[in-house]
Amino acid sequence: MKIQLRENLNIENADGMIVCIPSNMDVDQAYGLPLEQMKQKETFEGKIGEVQFLTLLHEELIEVALVGLGDGETFCETKLIKSLGEAIKALKKKKVKHISLDLEMINRVAPIDKKLQKMIFSALIMSDYEFNDYKTDSKPSTLEEISVYGNDLDETCLNEGVILGETNVFSRHLTNMPANIMTPDQLARLAKDYVSPLGIEIEIKNEDEIEALGMHAYLAVAKASANPPRLIVMRHMGAPESDKRLVLVGKGLTYDSGGLSIKPTASMVTMKDDMGGASAVIAAMGAIAKLDIKANVIGIVAACENMISGLSYKPGDIISSMGGKSIYIGNTDAEGRLTLIDAVTYGIREEKATHVVDIATLTGAAIHCLGSEAAPVVTNNDDFYHVVEKAFKKADEKIWKMPIFDEYKELVKHDQADLTNTAGSPGTITAGIFIGEFAKDVPWVHIDIAGTAFREKASGVYSKGGTGSGAIPLVYLAKKMSK
Ligand code: BES
Ligand code: MG
Ligand code: ZN
Repeated sequence: MKIQLRENLNIENADGMIVCIPSNMDVDQAYGLPLEQMKQKETFEGKIGEVQFLTLLHEELIEVALVGLGDGETFCETKLIKSLGEAIKALKKKKVKHISLDLEMINRVAPIDKKLQKMIFSALIMSDYEFNDYKTDSKPSTLEEISVYGNDLDETCLNEGVILGETNVFSRHLTNMPANIMTPDQLARLAKDYVSPLGIEIEIKNEDEIEALGMHAYLAVAKASANPPRLIVMRHMGAPESDKRLVLVGKGLTYDSGGLSIKPTASMVTMKDDMGGASAVIAAMGAIAKLDIKANVIGIVAACENMISGLSYKPGDIISSMGGKSIYIGNTDAEGRLTLIDAVTYGIREEKATHVVDIATLTGAAIHCLGSEAAPVVTNNDDFYHVVEKAFKKADEKIWKMPIFDEYKELVKHDQADLTNTAGSPGTITAGIFIGEFAKDVPWVHIDIAGTAFREKASGVYSKGGTGSGAIPLVYLAKKMSK
């Protein structure tokens, strides 16, 4: 599907239309639509979030989606993007080939600034994504083109918006691929195919090399699987003269069965998605290169599976870590933090990180904290957190900082080892504190995307499955670090 900017509203070749309508506008018969009558009957009032469909006969049939904008007070970018997603998906179901999208009216309720333009363009790409690679009878989408009309639309915003939209989609796609296909080695290969041609240096380390680095916590998780681990390191050195190095660590459990502390089936079926953090990082690295961002950014994924065999690590074990601390294993299902601490230590020790972000589908408790719309954060540095928060805001994704009270810090300690991997409630915070023990004094932000990384149902620009949560914000973060 391609997006074209148009100088004027042209519906001649379009068999679909999306029209944005403010609630306070007197539009009689605009586009030949019976808007005034609809308003009188209160079937469509133009409220923000409202989406309605009708079919027009204009030489040929045109499928129309009316999208409400509200007024200057009620207008909301997030809700507009959601409506556009719903509109595009519904028009696709009606087998539309060419959508004409009129954005001009938005100016009557809010300025279409660069940020909003990029959000809209990436939303168009995001709404077009479907995961149907494995359905033998799936038909390709009919949608070929969206032509967008509006004054002052900017070609640069279009390019960037499309790159960001594709970043989100690639991240979702990696997450959606089933674990029998998306093994650690396959994830590494796909990462390489994606980032290498863009000029990113990528190193993929095998089990022996991981062992030689002393990543014992990561290996404890990985060793029960027939699919060996792969440590993926991607380097974009966009500012060689600068000492600043942003390390992005993504949790890359291509499958989490829980290990010997095995999960019930219902919790296990979605665990192919336990690499949502890794997909966000890999996809973001691609965009950081495409946009030629002048910052040093290193993406790290300690990819592995949490499985069961005679080699399994066991509840009650005491293991070591690359950072040197010993860890008591209270539960083998708290595996993500074990892979992350070694990846964080690797990032600080070997890649000389000055800033670390880790992003992970880490705790079920994150879903209890903030549900599926926002990701809880644990950090050791408020200034850095505010930079990360701004990057998420720009991408219209939500994060929220959790408190670290001294009492919580006590919970990660253990009487037989330096730390325990199961510190108990509040589970999201204690998991974060555990990782923070390995970030030491380096500014670090941990983002728990267990609630935001996938959806049970399609909504707005998202389809069922992976959401690509964090991918676009990480690109914006790299941009902010370049300043
Ligand atoms: N991958 C899971 C967390 C998860 C749960 C992600 C639900 C998405 C949806 C993680 O490895 C895990 O199993 N965490 C345990 C930790 C506990 C044993 C301390 C959890 O949250 O139950
Ligand atoms: Mg687990
Ligand atoms: Zn997990």
